[in-house]
Amino acid sequence: MTKIRAAITSINGWVPDYLLTNGELSKMVDTSDEWITTRTGIKERHILKGNGKGTSDLGAEAVKGLLEKSGTSPDEIDLLICATATPDMLFPATANIICDKAGLNNIFSFDINAACSGLLYTLITAAQYIETGMYKKVIVVGADKMSSIVDYTDRTTCVLFGDAGSAILLEPTTENVGIMDFIARTDGSGRIHLHQKAGGSVKPATHETIDAKEHFVFQEGQAVFKFAVTKMADVSVEIMEKNGLKSEDITWLVPHQANLRIIEATARRMGIRKDQVMINIQRYGNTTSATIPLCLWEWENQLRKGDNIILSAFGGGFTWGSIYLKWAYDPK
Ligand code: UT7
Repeated sequence: MTKIRAAITSINGWVPDYLLTNGELSKMVDTSDEWITTRTGIKERHILKGNGKGTSDLGAEAVKGLLEKSGTSPDEIDLLICATATPDMLFPATANIICDKAGLNNIFSFDINAACSGLLYTLITAAQYIETGMYKKVIVVGADKMSSIVDYTDRTTCVLFGDAGSAILLEPTTENVGIMDFIARTDGSGRIHLHQKAGGSVKPATHETIDAKEHFVFQEGQAVFKFAVTKMADVSVEIMEKNGLKSEDITWLVPHQANLRIIEATARRMGIRKDQVMINIQRYGNTTSATIPLCLWEWENQLRKGDNIILSAFGGGFTWGSIYLKWAYDPK
């Protein structure tokens, strides 16, 4: 029987207009362009402004653009899954709200929360619905309004994050392209180093939790950094070995964009050159679920059918993983 694979057939990104630069952050907290650039690689990030605007707006804009770009009508879409760590609200799922805003009315939709690995987890999940023959057109959204959970008086976290939305169209193929393999891992004991302390069922919102700033991102940067460097490099090398890929076989590494130093360490361990790595952290910062698709979207015109691409991420949870895919189309 011919194997059905899930292939990316279109991709879109969307960022809000407002640019928060290192210069502006230096006026808000005790930091500098020099510190942020050398420690993280980030120069600026886009921020979603406006009352009543949330992650679903970032996702819906990306989805509307994807449908237009790919010439797909909303009623052709079978399933939409949204990766996000900053849902519009605890319930309903942000995926449902995106579908409503983008005009996808007769649809199955849900969210996946795997923090910075959310896009990988969601792509892996979506691919199963295609590979089993169940569905023909599935949209994966990666969207996060990180500015909604960032404390802009905390210099250790406020310089890191940005807001963005992205959307990927997955369709079946019987050619030797698409998602070839994946590795996904979780270690819940790592949650102590990176989480949001309040606002869930363990610690619902109270005046005290708000006064204690417990609704913002809490991160022990150095501890997370050590795990991220090791785990992202390990899993990237593991997927290469599992698929018999040498460094010269890899066309592109597409890493989660959390810190330029983590990206460079991963590339070194894989034995690949810097010009084989997609890096745009300088312009977007860490947009959590949107980093990997924002790269693919920006590099789309340089990608060729059959290119060997490794996607890798590490994030809160802890969660981490890699996907090996063969790009499915030439520039259109
Ligand atoms: O995407 C999800 C997963 N997250 C990650 O992968 C993030 C992993 N962690 C990191 O990327 C890095 O740990 C950070 C970028 C968050 C921090 O870089 P670092 O090199 O680990 O710095 P550090 O936390 O060790 O701090 C070094 C110094 C400290 O001062 P002292 O104690 O040495 O006097 C900090 O207080 O830098 C200080 N510092 C800052 N200084 C200027 C921390 N943040 C800033 C800042 N500006 N924004």
